[in-house]
Amino acid sequence: MTDSENDQQPTAQVETARKAFELEFERFARFTGDSPSFSDLNLDQAIAEQRALGELRTRHLGKKSALAASKKLIGRVPAEERAEFGKVVQATEALVGSALDEAEENLKRFIEAERTSRESVDITLPGRRPRLGHRHPITLVRERIEDIFVSLGYAIEDDREIETDFYNFDALNIPDTHPARGWQDTFYTRDGFALRSQTSTVQIHAMQRRGVPVRMIAPGRVFRRDTPDPTHNPMFFQVEGLCVDRGISMAHLKGTVAEFLKRMFGPDTVTRFRPSYFPFTEPSAEFDFSCFKCKGRGCRICKNSGWIELGGSGMVHPNVLRAVGVDPEEFSGFAFGFGIDRMCALMYTLDDIRLLFENDIRFLEQFS
Ligand code: DAH
Repeated sequence: MTDSENDQQPTAQVETARKAFELEFERFARFTGDSPSFSDLNLDQAIAEQRALGELRTRHLGKKSALAASKKLIGRVPAEERAEFGKVVQATEALVGSALDEAEENLKRFIEAERTSRESVDITLPGRRPRLGHRHPITLVRERIEDIFVSLGYAIEDDREIETDFYNFDALNIPDTHPARGWQDTFYTRDGFALRSQTSTVQIHAMQRRGVPVRMIAPGRVFRRDTPDPTHNPMFFQVEGLCVDRGISMAHLKGTVAEFLKRMFGPDTVTRFRPSYFPFTEPSAEFDFSCFKCKGRGCRICKNSGWIELGGSGMVHPNVLRAVGVDPEEFSGFAFGFGIDRMCALMYTLDDIRLLFENDIRFLEQFS
């Protein structure tokens, strides 16, 4: 309290204290009256205002307040004015107190309402449906292929993606100088390993592991040094097939591939073999099947030819059997291989196989 306040008349001091309060209370005045306003206040701000109001109460009604000080002046007031002065003090106290009470009460109610609405749960809101995953389109196609071959008595082989030259080339009758190493150029590591460029590597592993007779298919990733475009990707999927036993002939190859394609694309599917060349088969053939969309009449999918080219096949080359210690005089076999992604792109009429590898959820969700 300043000297000038002390010098004031007691009544004037009370008046000054009231004015000081009213000035400070002004910003809280909107919390009082018939329609108190809390608009634009969030819960945290309302709580801060509540604290500020409490501090205001201490400052203006507390023991060290100007009002409390003026009460002590009662002795200085002439006896005949004392009663009147007392009334003024009381009235001022009541005015300040009730203004604070009202503002605090309303604010408290607002805060409680805010808290309740924040914590309440609207049980009429729809629940959050858990998002179920599903198989990738390549997996869907791979599983159909596997089911068909398992029912034909084939085992499923899953083998390594990193290989030595022996498995990827040499054992498959592709010697160092062979031009086939060029079109199957792949990715090499410094210490003599390479990412396999074909699933044919599993023919060798399977015969080494299981011996012969053997009947297996091997789906999996392969890698080639290709620039990505709508029909190429440096990583793609193939499935390999191998059947080695006594007395296996080209008729078994044709019957097996034709039966598989009928089960895959429908009973009226026709299969066609064209003479071809692969280092690991002799004789070799590529196989096509009649278009599943137009039944061979010609359409966009088969590029108007009526046929869809699928893969390579042939009778296992004697050198391949020799590479794993199998006597080609006693055993013979057939092998085939084709691209799963290519088949997948055909079945779902995708015009870009890269869609299968980009993991774009908007694309993948269409296969759930
Ligand atoms: N490995 C060959 C390729 O990647 C496909 C293939 C052709 C596999 C003939 C075979 C086969 O088993 O006999 O193009």
